[in-house]
Amino acid sequence: MTAISVGGNRPFTGCLRVPGDKSISHRALMIAALGRRPCAIKGLSDGDDVVRTRLAVEALGARVEVAESGEVTVTGGMSGARNPIDLGNSGTGIRLMAGLVAGFDFTTTLDGDASIRQRPMDRIMAPLTEMGASITGRGDSGSLAPLTIEGRPLRGIEYTLPVASAQVKSAVLLAALRAEGPSTVHETVPTRAHTEEMLAAAGVRLERGDCSVTLWPGEVDPPDVEVPGDPSQAAFWVVGACTAPNSDLTVENVYLGPARGGFVEVLQRMGADITVDEDSGDIEARSSELRGTLVTAQELPGCIDEVPILAVAAAAAEGTTVFEGIDELRVKETDRVAAVAELLAVLGAGCQIDGDTLAITGVGRAEALGSGTVDSRGDHRMAMAAAIAGAVGNGSMTVEGFEATHTSYPGFARDLDASWGRTP
Ligand code: S3P
Repeated sequence: MTAISVGGNRPFTGCLRVPGDKSISHRALMIAALGRRPCAIKGLSDGDDVVRTRLAVEALGARVEVAESGEVTVTGGMSGARNPIDLGNSGTGIRLMAGLVAGFDFTTTLDGDASIRQRPMDRIMAPLTEMGASITGRGDSGSLAPLTIEGRPLRGIEYTLPVASAQVKSAVLLAALRAEGPSTVHETVPTRAHTEEMLAAAGVRLERGDCSVTLWPGEVDPPDVEVPGDPSQAAFWVVGACTAPNSDLTVENVYLGPARGGFVEVLQRMGADITVDEDSGDIEARSSELRGTLVTAQELPGCIDEVPILAVAAAAAEGTTVFEGIDELRVKETDRVAAVAELLAVLGAGCQIDGDTLAITGVGRAEALGSGTVDSRGDHRMAMAAAIAGAVGNGSMTVEGFEATHTSYPGFARDLDASWGRTP
């Protein structure tokens, strides 16, 4: 296990670019695998999760070329994988892939690491089975990875998501491409819309309402893709710059589409000085005095992955920040409710968990944050949130299991070095 120590109280300045959006990267590879012509993908995330999806589509029969520039060209092909596919730590990888392969005439086994083997797969098994898919899993419930999916003819479905999950919505939509008749997915709260956006761009017939999407099966003709920067990674730097004194930092070329920018609104409500350029996707953040706010269950899906770093902002703020509807956080890469509580204890912030509500009482300013040792629990976002907390506080923070950052952001430590130390 790799540990790093981050000494703090330095400004965040300058400009930086974060890796390509992880959600878009997974989908770009999977949709390209369904196409017929070579599809060039620029700016793909370099994290381990997306590397696994690239290897997975290759194993399934797509031709994948990786240029020295990092540009990836995928020529579609789905003939089936000879061996089990290991999606590593990636919930998006395994759940979307299950939908992708369910209607093909071959058998696929999808597996992942110890964390993936604990995460709920019944949420995708239920709708896919209703569509006619055959999926068997491990454990008493039969719904844990590895999953074995025997390809079957599928029928369209009308499905209301019981949990707000873009992964479940996407698994159904990808399976629906090969089903008999149209499929409709209803959501009670809108979640990220990459799958619908990208399938529409690939010529698939789709109708989108505020909280529903209907897809008609058909051929996929994926265009070339330029993947914009990942807002979930930008959030680390934005919170760093908002909380550390004398900071002024711009993250360039960030995806600003639906259900991804919620963290900016939350921080602005907390008093953060943030400017978003809708044309370029640049987000500029400056030192701010933050105060507590309420994040409702309705808005949580729009900032679900940012809760660990928003918790750091809340810890540095004056007053109490309340997150409602946090149950989904318990089934992420680790139990993020427990992990955030551990981090807050080290930071000296107040933390109260009551059912599905988390209340954080801040210490008032970043310089007053405590420090010590935090274990990432193998969770990339916990590792990065703890490192930023160390960078903005006064003491020295040791982050154990820092290698978890490779899941989504292998260059995080390099960018942390580059983003501080120069006074604006
Ligand atoms: C993702 C959806 C979210 C998110 C994950 C990426 C996606 O998961 O937490 O990091 O790309 O669809 P859920 O759909 O399970 O909420």
